[in-house]
Amino acid sequence: MTGDNDLVRDRRVQYETAGLDISDVDHSPVAQWHRWHEEAAEAGLVEPNAMTVSTVDATGMPDGRIVLAREVSESGITFFTNFNSAKSEQINSSGNASAVFGWLALHRQVRVTGSVERISDAESDAYFSSRPRGSQIGAWASPQSEVIESRQTLESLVADVEAQFHDKEVTRPPFWGGWRIIPVRWEFWQGRPSRLHDRIQYVPSEQEWVRQRLAP
Ligand SMILES: Cc1cc2nc3c(=O)[nH]c(=O)nc-3n(C[C@H](O)[C@H](O)[C@H](O)COP(=O)(O)O)c2cc1C
Repeated sequence: MTGDNDLVRDRRVQYETAGLDISDVDHSPVAQWHRWHEEAAEAGLVEPNAMTVSTVDATGMPDGRIVLAREVSESGITFFTNFNSAKSEQINSSGNASAVFGWLALHRQVRVTGSVERISDAESDAYFSSRPRGSQIGAWASPQSEVIESRQTLESLVADVEAQFHDKEVTRPPFWGGWRIIPVRWEFWQGRPSRLHDRIQYVPSEQEWVRQRLAP
């Protein structure tokens, strides 16, 4: 065990990548996010739209998990999930969430905090209908975040849903759809040598975002 932890403690990577100045980042955090997302995809990073969404429960206990961002636009950051899941309950009670994109191979991180709203049924329908049939069936079958007896339990739930929709289009379950995080703060972090990293945050002011440098 001690040896394993020595490996973790002594692991150091020098970040030699180019720096990030206020003049380098776009006026729009959304445009800046797309620029970095594209570079992450071009660099061959796995699931460059994956983000850790953190929420707190009614007692203030934080919780986090990875989900896939399906839209990043001026309206916010949208992801899809089960509305009865633990994360959805936490969003219902607190109304807020954070999201972190970690593009570690590029020594980059983007952090967002904001309020969360449900997207419209029409938007959720449109996205659901674009999903592969297996994922559509899975959305109906899985009581996400609930304790289940076994893998077999899940597989028999899937078989039931398959029988129900046999030869039919799978419609969106009413308990499944999109949440949109509406950012009140964005931060773009670029790793630099000697831990003197660059951090540029965007905070709202009147009609526009103000960009500021933060100490690393
Ligand atoms: C790469 C990756 C992508 C994921 N994408 C989603 C997603 O888009 N939606 C989702 O509900 N869960 C997604 N998950 C599963 C979640 O991390 C989590 O297990 C699930 O949503 C239940 O979380 P909860 O119990 O906190 O609600 C993903 C997991 C990984 C590792």
